[in-house]
Amino acid sequence: MIFRTNAWNRFRYTLYTPVYDAIGRWFAPYRRQSIDQLAIQPGERVLLIGAGTGLDLEHIPKGADILATDLTPLMVQQIKVRNRLLGHQLEVRVMDGQNLDLDAQSVDVVILHLILAVIPDPVACLREAERVLKPGGRIGIMDKFLPPGEQAPMWRRWTNIFTFILATDINRRFEPILDHTGLELVSDEQVAWRGNLRVIQLRAPLSTPLNDQTNPFRIFTRDNLRDTALFLNYLAMAMLFRNALSRLVLSSVGLFRRLIEVPLMKSGT
Ligand SMILES: C[S@@+](CC[C@H](N)C(=O)[O-])C[C@H]1O[C@@H](n2cnc3c(N)ncnc32)[C@H](O)[C@@H]1O
Repeated sequence: MIFRTNAWNRFRYTLYTPVYDAIGRWFAPYRRQSIDQLAIQPGERVLLIGAGTGLDLEHIPKGADILATDLTPLMVQQIKVRNRLLGHQLEVRVMDGQNLDLDAQSVDVVILHLILAVIPDPVACLREAERVLKPGGRIGIMDKFLPPGEQAPMWRRWTNIFTFILATDINRRFEPILDHTGLELVSDEQVAWRGNLRVIQLRAPLSTPLNDQTNPFRIFTRDNLRDTALFLNYLAMAMLFRNALSRLVLSSVGLFRRLIEVPLMKSGT
């Protein structure tokens, strides 16, 4: 669907950049709450994904080493302008939050404010955040999700057709997104809009995940183990049915020979 693409996001957020702060400022108390919970220390590497105009920067303590990224180049320009007054140690880059151009285990904190309900593939985004996070690193999320166990009523599903095109998905669930990662839930608070706006903190496990690219034993990834198990399964089946298989192969070869011999005999060669 054309509206669930980076191209559409870049187009609409380019249009919204000049007026974004008028709406984005409304979330200030929740930005503060989320960032305070992360207890960012001086010198820590902090990554903002889908940073927008950089409204979060006002709440990040001085001394952090910040990388603010966004898909929309005009938003990234705005972050630079904002930081002229704030004076953070800041790098800004245009980057797709679903495919981060960053090394694994290279950041201490990831901030995901108002992005998981907007980005085309929120699972890819959270998995990328997990990949770049150091063991024990923290993720701060502030976003709108359907409250757990609640079904979206009909009016809400219809409204979502417009909000999804213009601004954001109002019917996304957080739990299935989290299920695709190995991240640990630290806290989850319903802060506004009858529990629809949430401030969530996640943590990367301290042990090295199996799929980690820096893992020296990375041949033992979950995917490789699954493929090996499948291969062994097929091998066991082949051993079990080897008599039937060899008969099948022999009769196929016989059939094939007869198929080519008949036309050859007819042509007299
Ligand atoms: C609702 S705004 C949130 C901005 C900011 N995080 C905030 O809290 O104010 C969503 C932002 O996500 C950005 N965005 C959309 N798709 C993206 C993607 N695939 N990768 C990175 N950023 C994306 C948009 O350009 C926009 O700046």
